Amino acid sequence: MSSRRNFIKTTAAGAAGAVLSFPALSYGRILGANERLRFAVAGVNNRGRALYGAISVVPNAEVTYVCDVDSRAIEKAIAEVKEATGKKPKAEKDFRKLLEYKDVDVIAIATPEHWHAPMAIMALQAGKHVYVEKPCAHNPAEAEMLVAAQAKYGLLVQMGNQQRSGPVTQLAIQHIREGRIGKPRFAKAWYSNNRKPIGNGGSAPVPDWLDWELWQGPAPRREFQDNLVHYNWHWFRHWGTGEIHNNGTHEIDVARWALGVGFPTQVTAAGGRLFHQDDWEFSDTQFISYLFAGGEMITWEGKSCTPQHYHNRGRGVTIHGTEGWLLVDRNSYLLYDNDNKLIEEHKESGGSQTTNTLGAGFLTDQHMTNLANGIREGATLAAPIEDAYISTQLCHLGQLALDHGGSLLTDPRNGHVLDNARAQQAWGRQYEPGWEVKV
Ligand SMILES: NC(=O)c1ccc[n+]([C@@H]2O[C@H](COP(=O)([O-])OP(=O)(O)OC[C@H]3O[C@@H](n4cnc5c(N)ncnc54)[C@H](O)[C@@H]3O)[C@@H](O)[C@H]2O)c1
Repeated sequence: MSSRRNFIKTTAAGAAGAVLSFPALSYGRILGANERLRFAVAGVNNRGRALYGAISVVPNAEVTYVCDVDSRAIEKAIAEVKEATGKKPKAEKDFRKLLEYKDVDVIAIATPEHWHAPMAIMALQAGKHVYVEKPCAHNPAEAEMLVAAQAKYGLLVQMGNQQRSGPVTQLAIQHIREGRIGKPRFAKAWYSNNRKPIGNGGSAPVPDWLDWELWQGPAPRREFQDNLVHYNWHWFRHWGTGEIHNNGTHEIDVARWALGVGFPTQVTAAGGRLFHQDDWEFSDTQFISYLFAGGEMITWEGKSCTPQHYHNRGRGVTIHGTEGWLLVDRNSYLLYDNDNKLIEEHKESGGSQTTNTLGAGFLTDQHMTNLANGIREGATLAAPIEDAYISTQLCHLGQLALDHGGSLLTDPRNGHVLDNARAQQAWGRQYEPGWEVKV
């Protein structure tokens, strides 16, 4: 344990331009098993609230800072943390300042996605452990950089695919490994919603509660527009990653886990913006198939604008084997034989995990606790970045296949695209000058 906390790089981040690499070595704080763990949460409008809610139930942990570029979100977060814990967290608008603070051991990141990997890498360079929301990176190159940074700095990084910490999903996986459905061969993952159109935005004055410069951070500068902040940035490529990442990262991850596979050999995809005409830049309906070296297959159906369910569920995964199949979602796991007879049913504790958009509750509480146990006691992480990023890359490959011809051959060793120069060129992104990410 101590090796991953020993000599780590620290920050010299300035208030003005971004400082994305940290040359000076310093000594990181070594946390004992009984020591209080101090968290900062960055991005507290929606998902960040679930994260500080989870931190407040982690034993011997506290939220020392809430960080946001929206002054209203900060005020609300301060009040909610105080109400939940009796202790008022400090506020910080500029993420880079968190890197300097000694009373921050872990940074939890729930900002828009163009910030995820850059923030996580800066946090590691400053000697902080990281909880980073899914997807861990806006583009595949950044996901690889984040994995490289974790390996270099040796601190812990947990991705926010919280179903990995669900006891009932873990039981389903255990039953698959024990052969309860025979040999697992394929999985079907789906998500459905009834998302409304986002309209056609126009440039607008930056609201006085928002620091637009810091919101943009590493992304090349654009004028503020009125249908972007909050949440709808998800549907713009400059900042977001679409439904395959927004929700596929959860279900594709469970499917990949269930089949015990890593990177695919082939990805095929079809999709379109079928339901509305507006600024939304991704497909709202997408069907993506992954083929793996052992012949296993995953299909993903992302349906942003059709709320019809499969198996009476708006989201979930079925895994099909030679001797039977099972259905798993955030709330339950059902095991069937090949005559479709229900053999076993298990319900997750903590009530419904599927309906709130924050994803707050039991699974996130478990996932955050798992990270804390990893830092203090060396517990195995449920979603360590070096594995979790593979699920993020599957989502990126699905999007690359959608964008570049519908079919890609991929290298099963690292997920790289083999046969498509345009998709290969789309592996990374452009940065705002001065904000380039360096590991
Ligand atoms: N794991 C889950 O179940 C789950 C659920 C919901 C969202 N998410 C993920 O969480 C992330 C955030 O989603 P959301 O719905 O909360 O989005 P949101 O737009 O509602 O909130 C993002 C917040 O980040 C803030 N922000 C932007 N730049 C910042 C910066 N430089 N420093 C600090 N704060 C900054 C914004 O002002 C905003 O308050 C997304 O990546 C999303 O995919 C995960």
